[in-house]
Amino acid sequence: MLDLERQYQPLRQELLEAMERVLDSRQFILGDAVSAFEQAAAAQLGVGHTVGCSSGTDALWLALAAAGLGPGDPVITTPFSFFASVSAIIRAGARPLLADIDPVTCNLAPEAVEAKLDSRRGASARAILAVHLYGQCADFTAFSQIAGEHNLMLIEDAAQAWGAAWNGKRAGGLGDVAAFSFYPTKNLSAAGDAGMVTTNSDDLAERARMLRQHGMRRRYHHDEIGWNARMDGFQGAILSVKLKHIAGWNEARRVVAGRYHALFTAAGLAEAGPYPGRGVILPQEVPGAQHVWHQYVIRISRRDELRAFLSERRIGSEVYYPVPLHLQEALRYLGYREGDFPEAERAAREVLALPMFPELREDEQQAVVAGIADFLS
Ligand SMILES: Cc1ncc(COP(=O)(O)O)c(C=O)c1O
Repeated sequence: MLDLERQYQPLRQELLEAMERVLDSRQFILGDAVSAFEQAAAAQLGVGHTVGCSSGTDALWLALAAAGLGPGDPVITTPFSFFASVSAIIRAGARPLLADIDPVTCNLAPEAVEAKLDSRRGASARAILAVHLYGQCADFTAFSQIAGEHNLMLIEDAAQAWGAAWNGKRAGGLGDVAAFSFYPTKNLSAAGDAGMVTTNSDDLAERARMLRQHGMRRRYHHDEIGWNARMDGFQGAILSVKLKHIAGWNEARRVVAGRYHALFTAAGLAEAGPYPGRGVILPQEVPGAQHVWHQYVIRISRRDELRAFLSERRIGSEVYYPVPLHLQEALRYLGYREGDFPEAERAAREVLALPMFPELREDEQQAVVAGIADFLS
């Protein structure tokens, strides 16, 4: 699925030197290396503020808490994401209100959000948390309009979308506040857990900074109950090295995605979506989106059989995500049932992520497509 070795080898020396500087400085938590990364990241994304933190999950919690979302506040989000998109809402004390996805992008569907708001007259939501799933931005034209009409905060879960854009504007600056993850498999990745909050609001940034340090503005004076959610110096140093390469890596991912598209089409396997028949539904970059192809996710019938078939040929694949969030055991108490979000449930049965990373070679992609062709024949 992912060979980090190919990214690591050419950067090895530079990464070791960056780590050495952190050791020499003995600034292991936050410190200059994290500040330098925060500044470079803000410049690259074109956002006013960046707050480095301990993980994408913590970034989501910090974003929600800094935005003042807490007990009793309904936050509309998707049932088709990594668990943290919803668990962070619950950690903040707020209440997730789920709405179904668009079958083409698998992102939160604006129509489903509107329907939810209409059907809940009197108990309106306070925020929308939209996930840029697989590296493609959710429809922020529609969400900005809905947020304006209903006076909602707009939060981005941009964990999978460093460098993605919507109508030319970078993820991280599309809503009021955003959360990124630098988990080692992400397109911009640390050597451990790390994350970041981004915002153009001075107040939100100041609050997120305070909350990541146990609610302290002054040492050992706690204004609010925050948490320990700081970024390590090593992660800041490593991320600064990789930040210089991410534009090129994202471009290489586009080339890999284009090659898959051409190979599936040439093999006669691609069919029109959004739902699969006997062939393969290829992922699409929708108008307005600049996809970073964090994942290349096809839809296919008999998905689990195909996965087993590919695995016998030592071809990696992964399912993001096999169980929609409303059907997760831990979230059963929210009261949702099977059938509540048919698009998310169907996607959970049909999606399959294929090997995708900047250094993936054409012969390897040919082997993946040939494997799928054999399975379908
Ligand atoms: C959409 C999404 N949200 C949140 C997270 C949480 O990030 P982390 O693993 O860094 O806590 C992830 C990644 O794992 C993710 O993919």
